[in-house]
Amino acid sequence: MIVLNIIFYIFGIIIPSVIILLSVFVYKKNIKRNTLISVIIFLLFYILKVGGYNLMFKNKVTKDNDNVAKETINTNTEENNEESIEEENIENSNENDVKENIEDNKSNNNTNNNSSNNNTSNKNNNEVTTKPNNVSNNENSKVEYIDGVPYIDGLIIVNKTYELPKDYVPKNTYKEAGSAEYCSTCLDIDTYENFQMMKSDALALGLNLWIQSGYRSYTLQQKLYNNYVSRDGVEAADRYSARPGHSEHQTGFAFDLNTITDSFQYTDEGKWVNENAYKYGFILRYPKEKESITGYKYEPWHLRYVGKDLATILYNNGNWITLEEYYNLTSTYSN
Ligand code: DAL
Ligand code: ZN
Repeated sequence: MIVLNIIFYIFGIIIPSVIILLSVFVYKKNIKRNTLISVIIFLLFYILKVGGYNLMFKNKVTKDNDNVAKETINTNTEENNEESIEEENIENSNENDVKENIEDNKSNNNTNNNSSNNNTSNKNNNEVTTKPNNVSNNENSKVEYIDGVPYIDGLIIVNKTYELPKDYVPKNTYKEAGSAEYCSTCLDIDTYENFQMMKSDALALGLNLWIQSGYRSYTLQQKLYNNYVSRDGVEAADRYSARPGHSEHQTGFAFDLNTITDSFQYTDEGKWVNENAYKYGFILRYPKEKESITGYKYEPWHLRYVGKDLATILYNNGNWITLEEYYNLTSTYSN
């Protein structure tokens, strides 16, 4: 825009003005002819300027319309980059994590028929019933809180309505999470082992799967979320990043695969994962066109371990059912 204006002022206004002034005051001849030439020059550059504006405007509109999806990709790519940077820094400082005693509580509490044997790692008998403000009594009756952690049928439930305590760290993990802020192997053992099986079966088909983002602590999620809010604002950030305490990454049962971009869905790996992850007990937690239900945009890369039986039900022959639909839950922040 600025360049167009400068060209217009120099060639469309100053030069014609100089021609007219020279004709009138210096040479004192051909005044009519030179004025006509000046007006023509002015008009030519005026048309050039207006035309240029229109062209730019048109390009902008076309770009806006065509690239709504691309913007999502960019956002996610940046998310990916930022996470990678954070992860690298944090991983280095957490290689020797503080060791914690692992309580094996699975046998105490697991009454779940839906294969949630693998999702009860942190349960014990200290029941706490704190109900989020934004939950109806009916909805809340399905959810039981154990040490402040929300469960249904032994399955940890985390979304915009249901949150984890700040100090929640997953137990029974492949590598102990301890005080790590980020760790791709600090996942629930069953989750990690099923991922390894899935990875190995995919590799046999020539497909390469890796965990891009695994366990994330409350504080790391807080940093990530705050960064996204600074960059994109609350409304936009809330569509793709969970607020601290509300991320499944803190549970140790969820991870992001390969590239955190929309284009992952079109890769051979993305297509295979969508069709086969349920066989290993994983669900696509944020399926396409379910944003109004899950609270998040489509994330073809984010898997959540729920066990094979429930995953098969939720896979639903490719028409993913969300946990929110299955358990009739809301996913909205109270503020
Ligand atoms: N991107 C998902 C919603 C998370 O931040 O946990
Ligand atoms: Zn994720």
